[in-house]
Amino acid sequence: MQLQVLKKDELNSLKDLISGFTGFTFNASREYSLIQAMSSFSKEHNCSTPHQFERLLRSNDELMRRFTECLLVHETYFFREKESLEQLITLLQRNRLAEGTCDQPALIWSAGCSTGEEPYSLALLLLDSSFKSNFTIVASDISQQALNQASLAQYSEWSMRSLSAEKRAKYFEKGLKTYRLKDETARQRVTFVNANLTEENQLSSEWSALDAIICRNVLIYFEQNVIAKVAQTFFNQLKPGGILLTGASDPPLVGYTNFEVEYTKTGIVYRKPAERTFASGARKSQSAPAASSRKSLSKPIAASRKSASARASQAHLHVVKETEKNTTIVEKATKLYTAGHWSEVVSLLAPQPATSRSLLIRSLLNLGRIEEATLLAEAACKTESLDATNHLLLALVLMSQQRQKDAAAIIKKAIFLDRNYIVGHFLLGISSFCARDREQAAKSMKNAQSLLKALPHDATIPLAEDDTRDQFAANVQRYLSIIEQQ
Ligand SMILES: C[S@@+](CC[C@H](N)C(=O)[O-])C[C@H]1O[C@@H](n2cnc3c(N)ncnc32)[C@H](O)[C@@H]1O
Repeated sequence: MQLQVLKKDELNSLKDLISGFTGFTFNASREYSLIQAMSSFSKEHNCSTPHQFERLLRSNDELMRRFTECLLVHETYFFREKESLEQLITLLQRNRLAEGTCDQPALIWSAGCSTGEEPYSLALLLLDSSFKSNFTIVASDISQQALNQASLAQYSEWSMRSLSAEKRAKYFEKGLKTYRLKDETARQRVTFVNANLTEENQLSSEWSALDAIICRNVLIYFEQNVIAKVAQTFFNQLKPGGILLTGASDPPLVGYTNFEVEYTKTGIVYRKPAERTFASGARKSQSAPAASSRKSLSKPIAASRKSASARASQAHLHVVKETEKNTTIVEKATKLYTAGHWSEVVSLLAPQPATSRSLLIRSLLNLGRIEEATLLAEAACKTESLDATNHLLLALVLMSQQRQKDAAAIIKKAIFLDRNYIVGHFLLGISSFCARDREQAAKSMKNAQSLLKALPHDATIPLAEDDTRDQFAANVQRYLSIIEQQ
């Protein structure tokens, strides 16, 4: 079949069929692979029209399976994002100590394990830890081809690319062109299962109440509704207190289920709330909002809210200092933010929110994803309660919800932590003004003014990276005039 005869509606119909089976979303390169695969399969099966091919695909499970194999990306390697695997082991150890279950085997699911490098890497790290061999890993993938290769445990140079010669010698037996995993215990501790993440009850009941799930670099290929469904499956499969680890490039799951978010030095992990606390209202407020509440958050804040506080926070959010360490990511995120690509900022920063909480929270606010912004800001205030900037960010979230009095109280906390926090005084002025406390508003703006006066004209404001003293002072004066005219 010639590629050019494929009409848009025929392509869309085929994409829908494949999405329904695999959960995939189609970007340009995946669409291209789909067209290529269709062309060659059509020839092989003598189909003269796209419609005929689709009908055949729908009626033949084996063909469907073979066809989707061509679209899967199996890219993986040993000890990929090793630090996050080590972090997972530390969290598991901590759980076991807290629960007094150190003698019980840990049950872990590696979902979308490809050719096995991920579960074997985890197994090798666990064997070298205090777990020894006291664990079992179930590793699943939709691709039987990949699983067959995983069972062989023979790998090419490509899979070994992050391993030193010493580690290669320790864990592998070198053949002519391949490396064979020689650690028999690691191999025995991993069971491979063919399972499609989009289907219900993929794993048998022996694989429930899991201690942890790792699903890295898989969700990135899925449609939003499939991500939500898979997140719920993971939630159900974990035991209370169980941990879900996703990859650094995977979409954030905040907003899909009741997972609690834990910020570790290697990025976000998700935790199913412990039974006790999950039932309690107090802890629930720290967990991610349920998927059903997402609909109400879809309208961008810039379009939906035009109050003075929202305008003020939009206009002046950029003065909040970033506490980032990773300048490259921050530079990229700043450019995206300035260009108004807030969703991309969220995708970039959500796996490592500490890189720039300010950019992440501001983007979520601008996208109208207020509950997620609240969650992040609240968690930051909790984990780093002495950092004035975190309180300020939470105040901004509250201001965007018109909770001016609450915001003012939080900003006062930030100012208590840092009396010279010029931006804090300025925002306290705005929130007080919106809460109709004109006196406090004027006082706060004047406080900001007097702190500004102590600085040289061209100085950049502490906690305000872009504005010079004069630029910022002009803003403060503008708001003060408005307040005094009321
Ligand atoms: C890029 S690999 C990731 C491998 C490994 N987790 C890692 O991070 O190195 C993605 C894997 O997800 C699998 N996959 C894609 N869609 C799936 C689905 N619906 N159910 C189960 N596995 C799926 C693919 O077959 C592929 O092996």
